[in-house]
Formats: sequence, C-alpha cells, structure tokens
Amino acid sequence: MGKARSLESVVVLTGAGISAESGLPTFSGDGGLWEKYRVEDVASPRAFARDPLLVQRFYNTRRRRLLASDVRPNPAHIALADFEQRFDGDFILVTQNIDHLHEQAGSAEVVHMHGELLKKRCQNCGRISEVKRDISIDQVCDCCGERGTLRPHVVWFGEMPLEMDRIHQALRKCDVFLSVGTSGNVYPAAGFVEIVNASGGHSVEINLQPSAVQSSFSQKLYGPAGETLPQFLQQLHVSTA
Ligand code: OAD
Repeated sequence: MGKARSLESVVVLTGAGISAESGLPTFSGDGGLWEKYRVEDVASPRAFARDPLLVQRFYNTRRRRLLASDVRPNPAHIALADFEQRFDGDFILVTQNIDHLHEQAGSAEVVHMHGELLKKRCQNCGRISEVKRDISIDQVCDCCGERGTLRPHVVWFGEMPLEMDRIHQALRKCDVFLSVGTSGNVYPAAGFVEIVNASGGHSVEINLQPSAVQSSFSQKLYGPAGETLPQFLQQLHVSTA
C-alpha cells in the first residue's frame, strides 16, 4: 500500500468470478457460458430482434439456475455485506452480475450496471417489474397490454450500462477500489481502474488469475474469492491506517 491515507470511500466492482463458488458459471474460460453460446446470438438487441425465442431461452435457463435451491451467496458475497455494515465511510458495490446474490447476502448499496435477471422490462411502455418465472415471446405486458414486448432487464452488447454517472463519481473520489472476479475484457468496467488511478486511489485486483488489465492495479491477490476476499476485507482498516 502506498502512502497512508484515511479510508473514507470504498468502491467494489464484482464480476462473474465472485458467483462461481455459488455454482453459477462464468462467461469466459473453461466451462464458461461463451463456450456454449455465441455472444452475438444471445446478448445483443439484434439477436433479440432476429431470434427472440433463443434469447429468452438463454435467460430463462439462467433464471431457473439462479433460483435453484443450491445457489446461495458464498463467503465472498457475505464478506462484502459485512464490510458494508461495519464501514462508516462511503461505500458502493458495483456489479456486472445480473444475479441477486449480493442482495441475498445483505448488501444494501448494489448498483447492477448490467441489469438484473429477476426483472423484466416492457419495450413498449418501459415498465420494469420483478420476474421469477420464464418470460415467453408472446407474453402480454401487465401495464400496457401489448403482446411480445417483454424482455429481460439486462444490458446487452451495444447497449449503455446503467447508472454510469453515479459510478464515475464514486470512482473519482474513492480511496480504495477493489475489483473482484472479473476478467477485465469488457468495457466500460475494465476501464474503471484507470479512473481510480488518475484520481490517486488505491486499486486492488482480487481474482482467480491475472485479468486482462492486471498491470493497472497497485495490489493483486490471486485465489478463490471466497477465501481471499474475506481475509483482505478483515485487514483493510489496518493496512490503510
Ligand atoms: P468473466 O467470465 O469474463 O470472468 C470471470 C473472471 O472470474 C475470470 O477472470 C476468472 O479467472 C475469475 N474467477 C473464476 N472463478 C473465480 C473465483 N472462485 N474467485 C475469483 N475469481 C474467479 O466474467 P466478467 O468479467 O464478469 O456481460 O464478464 C464481464 C461481462 O462480460 C459480463 O457481465 C457479461 C460478459 O460477457 C454481458 O453479458 C453484457
């Protein structure tokens, strides 16, 4: 850790790796979702226009998996929720994940920059509502009555991630930025570390293996997040004092 500064503001970015130990597949790497599916077939507005059935099936399958009884928050999710509760400075948890495991673990300030699998959105009236079942291609919107206009409330490639102004503000003023379980291949999230570096914050990568942007981080810890993250958060106050 560089020169001593008081710890007033922490931003955490999480990716699919934090949910891997909960039994949810990551995107890249062996056994990842992008081995079985092509991004351009299931995660873009063009794919949805061309083959809505395939896209809905992809997200319906993921929603069913997420709601399976064996999928629960793991020690990494729980350590973040505990840290948020005991930390009296500014804290924000930005996740690229569309699962709800952070909320289940008790995290309060969660920003889902890529949306949420347990929400649906009507492309006609814009209403966002909870969904715990499959979305069908001919389903009627409860709000406007249109048929076939419902989609998962997730951000696809080619769409703008959510709440970027709030995220940028927090990154510019944070003392510590933790990036957990993300491969650093997808922007804008992969570029957050550079915003932190430009503003003088301390950046830490916690991942199974070095990410594509590992060289930008001042501190790095490699191993399963369920082990490394709880240990790191336990000593965070000490090391920044
Ligand atoms: P990836 O699947 O690209 O990367 C997951 C990262 O987590 C990899 O670097 C793994 O090494 C690491 N990892 C795996 N298991 C881990 C563990 N137990 N502990 C710690 N790290 C572990 O997922 P993301 O980086 O989150 O976007 O992907 C970013 C975005 O690209 C996703 O939100 C998605 C994807 O395509 C959209 O769908 C829009």
